[in-house]
Amino acid sequence: MSALEVFGGGVAVITGAGAGIGAGLARHAHRLGMSLVLADVDAAAVALLRDEVIAAGGSAVDVVCDVRDPEAVAELAERTYRDIGPVRLLVNNAGVEQFGYLWDTPVSNWNRVMDINVSGVFHGVRAFLPKMLAEPSQSWVWNLSSIGGVAAVPLQAPYIISKHAVLALTECLRLEVQLAGHDDHVHVQAVLPGAVKSNIFEAAGGVDADSAGTAVSAAESQREAMLDIKAAAMDPVEAAEVVFEQAAEGAFYLLTQPEYVSTAMADRAQVLTTQVPPQLRTTQRFDPDKH
Ligand SMILES: NC(=O)c1ccc[n+]([C@@H]2O[C@H](COP(=O)([O-])OP(=O)(O)OC[C@H]3O[C@@H](n4cnc5c(N)ncnc54)[C@H](O)[C@@H]3O)[C@@H](O)[C@H]2O)c1
Repeated sequence: MSALEVFGGGVAVITGAGAGIGAGLARHAHRLGMSLVLADVDAAAVALLRDEVIAAGGSAVDVVCDVRDPEAVAELAERTYRDIGPVRLLVNNAGVEQFGYLWDTPVSNWNRVMDINVSGVFHGVRAFLPKMLAEPSQSWVWNLSSIGGVAAVPLQAPYIISKHAVLALTECLRLEVQLAGHDDHVHVQAVLPGAVKSNIFEAAGGVDADSAGTAVSAAESQREAMLDIKAAAMDPVEAAEVVFEQAAEGAFYLLTQPEYVSTAMADRAQVLTTQVPPQLRTTQRFDPDKH
């Protein structure tokens, strides 16, 4: 089935819809004829996107919702089912990055990454899954992991840890939906993007400004390296098109750049099979003298 057949006419709830991948998914969902619930902490960003969608003849509401707050996410689910209708697609997308050595990471930045990237997804599952399970209609849950969810990357440890966690959460959730006998109508899928144009590296945390110079330069050089990658990254609407088609075809792992991301998956499998310890790539070696 095509994405249009599967998703057209349904309701899509997207967290972190104000920028990047979330906004790309929202724009493509609108093109498929979905009604949008655009949730984000950035009120202005989702209001602008709502106006854009409505001006283009679509249907959208914007909701200020912090995925760290379980009650706010529960309220998002209540309001959606009460005022708009059953959810065809929930995308637990909101996520943030963090740069620097793990030992230099401020506790508040660690908590920020875990609270948004991991607990935010859990809150989405807790708020929406019971309603989806209770509805006889078909529904889909996408959780945003990453190519980083199958990799080890220095200077981004909290983020990488969070994306491994989301992948594991999503795999377990799929099994639980199956175990509970609801996999005929509730479909759980993991999204693993490669590099997609977004604001994530600009919005990323670093280390405290008054840390030792090496701590700051290691974090900021990693941010610069990632910003360089962004120049060649995929357009978020193109990424969304790919993900929607794969989801409609019934894949579990939804890959924005299938060849590139599946190479990382194969590398991960190889590491685990051969039990070779993680190796730095030469380009990953941080030289403090150069910064
Ligand atoms: N861009 C990439 O290359 C890439 C690659 C792999 C995975 N991802 C994942 O895709 C998802 C989206 O990232 P992006 O790159 O589009 O980032 P982005 O920074 O462009 O957008 C993230 C959005 O989430 C919102 N947000 C932040 N904290 C929030 C909170 N507490 N509650 C609700 N909304 C919040 C932000 O306001 C922003 O609008 C993330 O989970 C990220 O890890 C991105």
